[in-house]
Amino acid sequence: MKKFFIQTFGCQMNVYDGQRIAAMLESHGWTAAPNVDTADLIILNTCAVREKATNKVYSALGRIRRAKKPDTLFGIVGCVARESGADAFKRIPDLNFVLGPQSYHKLPQLLDNPDAKLLNIDLGGLEKFDALPKMVRSPAVAYIPIQEGCDHCCTYCIVPYTRGREISRPFDDVMADTLHAANTGAVEICFLGQNVNGYKYTDANGKLYRLSDLIRATAAIDAVKRIRFTSSYPTEMTDDLIEQFKTEEKLLPFLNLPIQSGSPDVLTRMNRPYSLDLYIDIVDKLKAARPDIQISSDFIVGFPGETDADFDQTMDIARRVRYINSYSFKYSPRPHTAAALMRDQIPEQIKSVRLARLDGFLNEIQREFNQGCVDRVMECLFEGPDKTGQNLVFRTPYMQQVIVPKTGDDVPTLARIKITAANKASLRGELIND
Ligand code: SAH
Ligand code: F3S
Repeated sequence: MKKFFIQTFGCQMNVYDGQRIAAMLESHGWTAAPNVDTADLIILNTCAVREKATNKVYSALGRIRRAKKPDTLFGIVGCVARESGADAFKRIPDLNFVLGPQSYHKLPQLLDNPDAKLLNIDLGGLEKFDALPKMVRSPAVAYIPIQEGCDHCCTYCIVPYTRGREISRPFDDVMADTLHAANTGAVEICFLGQNVNGYKYTDANGKLYRLSDLIRATAAIDAVKRIRFTSSYPTEMTDDLIEQFKTEEKLLPFLNLPIQSGSPDVLTRMNRPYSLDLYIDIVDKLKAARPDIQISSDFIVGFPGETDADFDQTMDIARRVRYINSYSFKYSPRPHTAAALMRDQIPEQIKSVRLARLDGFLNEIQREFNQGCVDRVMECLFEGPDKTGQNLVFRTPYMQQVIVPKTGDDVPTLARIKITAANKASLRGELIND
């Protein structure tokens, strides 16, 4: 039997795409290889959001072409494929395929004709969702994409170029995938989109569906115990959605609401036209709806023209909101984006200093939050054993990892766990047997 190996980089959308590619190959009679050496087909499922992510893909390709069997096919799918296009074949001449994030369902064409070079970086919209087989069994956490692309056009971001215009999937299609996942093992549903809370779908009768409608319909499915969604745009956090945090207990009290910068000037140049007052107002409304809610953010430091005073405003907003579990990045100029052409690019060394300051502070908040969880009892989702096999790994409603000593073979998918200790990265706990 022929074997494939997929390595996925980047966001949850890529993780989902990777699972669908695997399901597609399995439906063609292929099986997963444990490593590159034994594979007949190697696929790098790639991320282009920062330059480092793209470079990582090309160095991995260099390693793979030396390690693989001579007749093994290899190539890239996803955002680097779309970013590089035909240039990828110039950089790596023996590459067999380059398929963008909306054309990886064309891969079987290569299996039929392995000597051809396959290039397709078209933006096919929702075509891939219809073209791919469903997964036979769902993992406990099912990622369900509800849209593709993004219309926000933040000036630093390559995603609108790599994934195209924003398109919402039909409500019935999303619910069919959700039900299928729930019927085949999913306990947690995570709705995915580059701008997930901007979901808008109008059916043939003119009825408009929003993310709040998807959440309400999903909460009514018995087998689903936890619901979340990522990634949200601040001003699309509408009142109907905020209300869901009050009414739907299954919606987890944790939300990624990226602010990117605390400086109004930088936000304007990023083409993120919201005021800090509006952002704070949304956070306050969320807290009123769900007092135990916690917010995380993505931050970019060293955006073109960012002054020390701008950066201090980012520190101020982090202090004010007390974000947990955030991601922060040095600004990275990307092709096909407006910010790459802006004057006043910030030197790397200043970016590093600012990133270290911000990270230091975010880690401190995270540590304090984790410490505050000690002695609390939380309902947590079982993820699997740890590397040693002696412990079990669970996820709290705030996506913290909890390590629990293994006591028996019968592990519930959702368990009540008493948190016994905390550090920055993870918690320790013990199962409560009611
Ligand atoms: N809404 C999207 C965001 C995609 S990019 C989502 O689904 O998550 C993820 C994060 O990467 C962004 O929130 C931003 O903080 C960061 N990012 C995007 N472009 C970047 C760039 N050019 N340099 C540094 N960080 C960037
Ligand atoms: Fe990128 Fe901004 Fe959309 S970060 S994905 S353009 S909301």
